[in-house]
Amino acid sequence: MLVLGIESSCDETGVALYDSEAGLLAHRLHTQIAMHSEYGGVVPELASRDHIRRVLPLTENCLAQAGKQLSDIDAIAYTAGPGLAGALLVGASVANAMAFALGKPTIAVHHLEGHLLSPCLADPAPEFPFVALLVSGGHTQLMAVHGIGQYELLGETVDDAAGEAFDKSAKLLGLGYPGGPALSKLADTGDVNRFTLPRPMLHTPNLDMSFSGLKTAVLNLVTQQSPLDDTTRADICAAFQAAIVEVLLKKSLKALKQTGMKRLVIAGGVGANRQLRSALNDAAKKRGFSVFYPPLELCTDNGAMIAYAGAQRLSEQQSAGSFAVKPRWDLASLNCA
Ligand code: KG4
Ligand code: ZN
Repeated sequence: MLVLGIESSCDETGVALYDSEAGLLAHRLHTQIAMHSEYGGVVPELASRDHIRRVLPLTENCLAQAGKQLSDIDAIAYTAGPGLAGALLVGASVANAMAFALGKPTIAVHHLEGHLLSPCLADPAPEFPFVALLVSGGHTQLMAVHGIGQYELLGETVDDAAGEAFDKSAKLLGLGYPGGPALSKLADTGDVNRFTLPRPMLHTPNLDMSFSGLKTAVLNLVTQQSPLDDTTRADICAAFQAAIVEVLLKKSLKALKQTGMKRLVIAGGVGANRQLRSALNDAAKKRGFSVFYPPLELCTDNGAMIAYAGAQRLSEQQSAGSFAVKPRWDLASLNCA
């Protein structure tokens, strides 16, 4: 079965071809970062218009890379939510129009299910069940994943997502948008012991997290240390990264203990963070659990995870002809009976 996947929930247009026997055949991505950086964040209307410009050329490019024709496609998967309504509608409309013309089914994919299953595109892939730490720009959740469509929410952020805290703190430090990768790069050159920032909700008995106070603490530090020199900026980055990594690590360990599971999967953009990976790898070695990541280029938004999730869902849910997008969509609502 050959599945075309289309991702357009935010500021990346991703297209991919996944074959249920041969694996990932091709994936193409266009990021709108340069376009939005002028405004310091995503401008939804510009995002939608750019998805329209990119999605068909990227699809042609993918087909050419895989040596396939449109007529070879068996189904088209697209991100139906959560995300920006206008941006989602571009992928949904293109997928449904193409599917209608080809007489093939469409599969409406949950963006977070795409992230959650993206480590299955790596080698080795995790077996079920596993604990998943989903850390993207919009979500921070710990889930127990018992199988495809069997997702149990264990805990989540009560305010900002981890990626959002990275981005907002980076903005306070004058590092542009999206600041996560830039903040992380600078943090690697800073002195982690000069400042100590709070670890919100680290010791609460549940698996919920909170990151908005950490961002406020960065704001206070920036105000107190202004004007910032390069060394101070790097030291604040190091303190911020250490705080967020410790919270994510400790809560993940608590989730493994609580569920008795031995596999941990990291998904979403913040999963690309080197310090987080190294802390998790060390803990895994010490405590005897396994940790899995998506291939680095598939940590942030992409079409490959949507094509893959679509292929897993192919036999269960297919439709053609009518569609709706869900800008807000609870992942646990996907659960099979
Ligand atoms: O999963 P994703 O592409 O988008 C959403 O679905 O939200 O994640 C994007 C987020 C952004 O907040 C970005 O700053 C963050 O992931 N990010 C990172 C790194 N690379 C991306 N945060 C920390 N360190 C990184 N290396
Ligand atoms: Zn995402």
